[in-house]
Amino acid sequence: MSLPDGPKSPDAWQMLQWVTRPFSFMRSCKHRYGDRFTVTLSRRVGPLVFFSHPEALQAILTGDDSDLFDAPGELNVLVEPLLGPQSLIGLSGNRHRRMRQLLMPSFHGERMRSYGQLIRNITEEVLSELVAGEAFSVRKSMQTISMRVILRAVFGLKEGARYQQLAPPKTAMLDRMSNPFGLGALFFPLLRQDFGPVSPWGKFVRNRTEVDQLIYGEIAERRNHPDASRNDILTLLLSARDEGGEGLTDPELRDELMTLLVAGHETTATALTWAMYWIYKLPTVRQKLLHEIEGLNGVLDPASLFRLPYLNAVCSETLRIYPVGLLTFPRRTKAPVELMGSTLEAGTVVVGCIYLAHHREEVYPDPDEFKPERFLERRYSPFEYLPFGGGVRRCIGMAFAQFEMKLVIGSLLSKVEFELADNRSVRPVRRGLTSGPSPVRMVLKGDKALS
Ligand code: HEM
Repeated sequence: MSLPDGPKSPDAWQMLQWVTRPFSFMRSCKHRYGDRFTVTLSRRVGPLVFFSHPEALQAILTGDDSDLFDAPGELNVLVEPLLGPQSLIGLSGNRHRRMRQLLMPSFHGERMRSYGQLIRNITEEVLSELVAGEAFSVRKSMQTISMRVILRAVFGLKEGARYQQLAPPKTAMLDRMSNPFGLGALFFPLLRQDFGPVSPWGKFVRNRTEVDQLIYGEIAERRNHPDASRNDILTLLLSARDEGGEGLTDPELRDELMTLLVAGHETTATALTWAMYWIYKLPTVRQKLLHEIEGLNGVLDPASLFRLPYLNAVCSETLRIYPVGLLTFPRRTKAPVELMGSTLEAGTVVVGCIYLAHHREEVYPDPDEFKPERFLERRYSPFEYLPFGGGVRRCIGMAFAQFEMKLVIGSLLSKVEFELADNRSVRPVRRGLTSGPSPVRMVLKGDKALS
């Protein structure tokens, strides 16, 4: 098969670079091979053609449900150990479409807005657990916020045994997948050896079993005591029926719930950690933001915060400069396709490279600078700016994550003052299948005069 040019080094070396320094790896490939290049990470995954030009992204993402491209779930087999075989991410065609239609409304419109006050309350709850003058890990606090938010949205769980029990093993399970061994195990099934509770894979399996037991426990309880007045996602999934009148099985429910918990928690926590870092690293950004929030004169309801233009620009720039998801999920050509001067044969697997698309000098002058103003001065097309991907697999949590980011940041800045705990440089690093900042520590200085 003739493929666009790319690194000639052995697969294992390409994989090592992709895992340990993905940003410089992508930049050097772009520098050497231009707007399209082929990377081979492992035989199992096969060659992947990276595209980052808006024209190519448009062709791929508007064509991923056409005669030219598709977005088959089997290409996402890497996430199966974590999310299970029935996860939305692993589904294709009609089953995929139906499941998306079922889940989407929970993360949009009225349903989404109904979580506004909850997000603000959870933010204040987590804030009240910080001690003034003591340094804290920003990621941990943001993870606590996003975990509590997603548990409430998905299960409607309030305080109680299961709510308390789910968070620790789930966080541990994800952390294990974030280190190079965990990531390696996703790519190489041979590394998935359970040598007991102290071996890396053994620990992961035990955390996953613990999470599964809690999820299945909740499913059983809800089946036994149905309550139609609840408006959480599990209630919705329990009442869903296909054309034949069949509902979802327990393993199907488990995989969908796990997908939402995993996809909705880590990603948003990472975005919030980056946003806090930029705001407290760059005094002019912070001042402009504070000025805008002060302009609300204490009317800090979710709808007002959500509409603030500079806050929106800060969140957008945060997701541009170091996108949490570096790539879209893979798409595959269904027929020969001409793209950016290459003829791709049927069966070629392509990915949209979000990071490189967000660093195109002609679209984003000074692409390595954090400049929220660019989002006030210009509108970007969905193929120039795509932190949530696009097409048939576009992130179902896009609106929800943006809503949550604005409310959490707006609530924090309006209440208290922070400062960075030290001058250590913060850089983007890999976190499992996504990316995020190296540790960020801050100190809570005290309350603000604003309400
Ligand atoms: C800042 C936060 C987030 C970012 C940056 C993000 C990014 C992404 C990206 C890049 C994709 C791949 C899209 C593609 O291939 O075209 C994706 C898919 C997905 N995201 Fe998100 N996401 C975030 C938050 C969330 C939240 C809050 C949820 C749900 C609770 C969620 C659920 C999903 C799901 C289920 C998919 C797979 C969709 C499918 O296969 O049809 N994400 N996300």
